[in-house]
Amino acid sequence: MLVRLDGPGTLVEQVYAGLRAAILDGTLPPGSRLPSTRALAEESGVSRTTTQAAFDQLTAEGYLEARAGSGTYVAAELPDGSMSASGIRAASSAPSAPSIRLSAYGRCLADRRFEAPNPNHAVRYNFRYGLPPVEAFPYDIWRRLLNRQIQDVSLRSLRYGPAEGSPALREAIAAYLARSRGVACSAEQVVVINGSQQGLDLTARLLVEPGDAVVIEEPHYQGARNVFLASGARIVSCPVDADGLDPALLPDPGAGVRLVYVTPSHQFPAGGVMPIARRLALLDWAERAGAVVIEDDYDSEYRYDGRPIPALQGLDRGGRVVYTGTFSKVLFPSLRIGYAVLPESLLGPFASAKWLADRHTPTIEQETLAAFIDEGHFERHLRRSRAANSSRRAALLAALDDEFGGTIEITGSNAGIHVVVWFRDVPADRTDAIVAGAKAQGVGVYSVAPYYLTPPETAGLLIGYASLNEREIREGIALLASVVDQKPV
Ligand SMILES: Cc1ncc(COP(=O)(O)O)c(C=O)c1O
Repeated sequence: MLVRLDGPGTLVEQVYAGLRAAILDGTLPPGSRLPSTRALAEESGVSRTTTQAAFDQLTAEGYLEARAGSGTYVAAELPDGSMSASGIRAASSAPSAPSIRLSAYGRCLADRRFEAPNPNHAVRYNFRYGLPPVEAFPYDIWRRLLNRQIQDVSLRSLRYGPAEGSPALREAIAAYLARSRGVACSAEQVVVINGSQQGLDLTARLLVEPGDAVVIEEPHYQGARNVFLASGARIVSCPVDADGLDPALLPDPGAGVRLVYVTPSHQFPAGGVMPIARRLALLDWAERAGAVVIEDDYDSEYRYDGRPIPALQGLDRGGRVVYTGTFSKVLFPSLRIGYAVLPESLLGPFASAKWLADRHTPTIEQETLAAFIDEGHFERHLRRSRAANSSRRAALLAALDDEFGGTIEITGSNAGIHVVVWFRDVPADRTDAIVAGAKAQGVGVYSVAPYYLTPPETAGLLIGYASLNEREIREGIALLASVVDQKPV
């Protein structure tokens, strides 16, 4: 196939643009197989590295799908339906559609939809990842503290507050992180944000220019990948193993990588915990590469086996780590409160970015949370939910063992509130049928494939367990087994 190479930009950008245009105008229809990167490179007179980089970017954006052992295909569903060939025609024939010129960022968001996943509340046994044990939350205490804030409302808490967050909460977070996570910071380095997602967004705005290389883990957290894609980054993936990301597989330090996004304490979603030697090697690499590391410590409050390893941030001597954490997994996600711990050099720009984005996180909730932590309720709640999650995890592991025995492999069970279950003998192309079959039985389970750029060869499911009780877990897994046992038709 011939890719037009007469547009603006680098060769990678031209190959990318040529392939994307061919997909959108229907020359490469959904489901069609692409030539190999080698064949395309030879035909187009560019290097294979160039075609591979263009394929990787289109895969990261959802236009292409790599199928292990069989090649690369145009995705059956393009990232944004309105940009498909028929979509473009429909949009241009709409009489009153104004033509609004979008920024590069705006174009990126128009090309694909980013939206909250369907919560799938309809299923009886929902093993959705990321739902904390909400029934364990001490509502009475929270209500009392919130009421107190509202009754005591002073002029101070009604005015705009500081962009960095309420001083009481920053102090409480800094002290908590020092005693529980080995994070070395002063309260001045803590910025309160609307969930760690905002930390990723603001960091990308400060550091990433369109075309810059950003390394993400493979598999990875899609919420991070999407932020970097929206900022125009060139996504470079780095494989993980049972010890998380391997710094030896990172690009050459001279390759111009701006940012590396990692989840070292509990790799998302596969679950590896990065040992200290790799943490030090990663920091050393970042120093040599002049790159910043985002350490997303999203759920390591829940640890069941093995000793906790101190945060990467606490080992960082060069001021290269942006550490983010969240209350979404330990309290509840709609609270929308998280925190970033920044190196001195980024503190000012980060606080300015927060101020420009939304001024600050709501003061009354921040001060309620500060009191909740200072009065000991937070860590008491953590201890209780850790115990509840630990029993649920044990029930899940036992149920999986009873139902599937040695036919599965489980990763990531030593921390967090989810595991990944691999069905050794089930090919990946049966996963969607298993998910659909389970849903028909009232069981919500979720394919692990969307978390990969190159999907795995065997069927894998992401199973969250914190929001179901032990009986529900056993019943749900038994139903799942009946679906997996069914022979494909
Ligand atoms: C790995 C990871 N990082 C970050 C987040 C973002 O969390 P929040 O923005 O709710 O703090 C999530 C949410 O599920 C996550 O799974």
